[in-house]
Amino acid sequence: MKVNEVRAKYFEYFKARGHVEIPSASLVPQNDPTTLFTGSGMQPLLPYLLGEVHPKGNRLVDSQKSFRAEDIEEVGDNRHTTFFEMLGNWSLGDYFKHEQLQWFFEFLTDEVGVDPSRLYVTAFMGDEKNNLPKDTEAVDIWKGLFAGKGIEAHAIEIGSEADGYAKGMQGGRIFYYEAKKNWWSRAGVPEKMPAGEPGGPDSEVFYDFGLPHDESFGANCHPNCDCGRFMELGNSVFMQYLKNEDGTFGLLPKQNVDFGGGIERITAASNNDPDVFHIDAFMDVIDLLVHFSGKPYDDSAWKKSYRIVADHMRASVFMLADGVRPSNTDRGYVLRRLLRRAAQHAQKLGVENDQKEESMLNRCAVIIIEKYKEAYPELATEEMYEAITSEIWKEEKQFGHALVTGMKEFEKLTSNVGLTKSHILGEDAFMLFTTYGFPFEMTQEIAAERGLSVDADGFKALMIKHQDLSRAGSEQKFKGGLADHSEATTRLHTAHHVLLKALQTVLGDHVKQRGSNITSERLRIDFSHTAKMTPEQIAAVECIVNEVIRKELPVVRSTLPKDEAEKLGAEHEFGAKYPDMVSIYSIGPIGATESDPHYDQAYSLEFCGGPHVSNTRELAFSDSSSTALGPKFKILKEEAVAAGIRRIKAVIQ
Ligand code: ALA
Repeated sequence: MKVNEVRAKYFEYFKARGHVEIPSASLVPQNDPTTLFTGSGMQPLLPYLLGEVHPKGNRLVDSQKSFRAEDIEEVGDNRHTTFFEMLGNWSLGDYFKHEQLQWFFEFLTDEVGVDPSRLYVTAFMGDEKNNLPKDTEAVDIWKGLFAGKGIEAHAIEIGSEADGYAKGMQGGRIFYYEAKKNWWSRAGVPEKMPAGEPGGPDSEVFYDFGLPHDESFGANCHPNCDCGRFMELGNSVFMQYLKNEDGTFGLLPKQNVDFGGGIERITAASNNDPDVFHIDAFMDVIDLLVHFSGKPYDDSAWKKSYRIVADHMRASVFMLADGVRPSNTDRGYVLRRLLRRAAQHAQKLGVENDQKEESMLNRCAVIIIEKYKEAYPELATEEMYEAITSEIWKEEKQFGHALVTGMKEFEKLTSNVGLTKSHILGEDAFMLFTTYGFPFEMTQEIAAERGLSVDADGFKALMIKHQDLSRAGSEQKFKGGLADHSEATTRLHTAHHVLLKALQTVLGDHVKQRGSNITSERLRIDFSHTAKMTPEQIAAVECIVNEVIRKELPVVRSTLPKDEAEKLGAEHEFGAKYPDMVSIYSIGPIGATESDPHYDQAYSLEFCGGPHVSNTRELAFSDSSSTALGPKFKILKEEAVAAGIRRIKAVIQ
């Protein structure tokens, strides 16, 4: 099958079972500033998994554009890609394990035509420490489903990663794994989850390509082994738990299903082909490159380069369409790396490009746009087409210049080297890479031509240090939004809305939010304003916020069409993209309710996914019934963070 057929069939199958199709969110996360890119289908749906009502109902189906930067170096084997589409079906407090497992199994076997005897599944073996039960229910459902296809399915406990899964397959078809493999939350295993984080046991489905086990991946093969015999097709997460403040687990208000399946891998399984790059989404690009280079794809000397160009160009096209532009920082840096790596491997394959229209990377981009415009028509508008191809060409040219300058530096270096020793230092190769964008592989190749070696270990050590530093930098920078959904953080989130309004009242309407970060200890807001605030202004803002808390104003959430919310003047982040239906929070007036919010008299109105307290009185005390003490909202610090941007840190004492 082809990728577009699998996607269409998936939508059709789940729509016939009451699901409403929702569009993919952007690769640039809108409501989750903790990651650079959207990396799974659940990220944009988090508020709804936590209990908010979704405007499109309780059964949703989508295909989410996802990107995982951590997989860049992995690209080159038979299945790793940086960009992928995650098929998702969602039950928001509606159906649960029975329907989910049956439907995914049926979809794979009856709709996509996957041979059921090739499927192996996993379930959660429980976690006594955290009082989380073994998922025998999922296992019983799986036994019944396999029996329906005439397959007797034994369930076995595979053991733990610590013992190297020593028990091996033992003729099993259903495997109980520990939390490391069969528990899903954004933070990972139960211990790592912060208070307020949702999670749950999951059940994965693997396809057996029947390849011989490669022992360099461990003594025994098993579904989660990385040797290439098994490939994960999809994961059904039964998101039903919430981590409490005291570290225990409670049930979420609703039991949800969060299913994520890799469309590329399901397509590969439908063709019983272990090479994901053989599916049409990649092969059309690879065929083009083969046509121009004349080098066969199946030759191991070239395979990796073909896979890298095909993967990186697809990721780049989707990033460019979502507004990312090549640069030296954050998302732009990732895109630059993808494009330059693709250019470098295209050169290796010997495909020339000397004009924008002839550029091999642009030819690849055009094939990708054509392939995906059916599902993502926005890729193919005239402006988008022009923007994507121009940016790619610009970056190719810049990379060309970087190579020329880097080459000159390389010449200088090698002439010095020649006098003293026979190899290039790791730090010099690193300098060529970071200062001139000169790829390490290229340094190696030129050096080899001159009979010199390069200190690869020294280069790698410097790269790791550099990557750690830049990762820490990005994490720091993108650590915006809410650290968790605990009560303390939620109170400070509502205080943050009140504070923004108070700042506008005291300083003027030019004040706009430019960033935020809220933990259970304090809130932080960045806002547009040039001058340092005077002590009087700070006192006035504190006074207003405390007054709003004392007034006990209701906090009401509503879902509205985006343009209506804009007409109401609800605050929203400059430049952010919002869906057609948005969630807004209003604070006040007294008596406002969800059915009758009196927007015209609201104290504050903001586009926001929550969560919030339901009345500002809850900001005064964690025990909202007590009113003996007055609230104490306090600004701890006011400072400049950039030209025209001030930052406030504040607490509720
Ligand atoms: N949220 C689950 C995952 O990303 C489906 O694997």
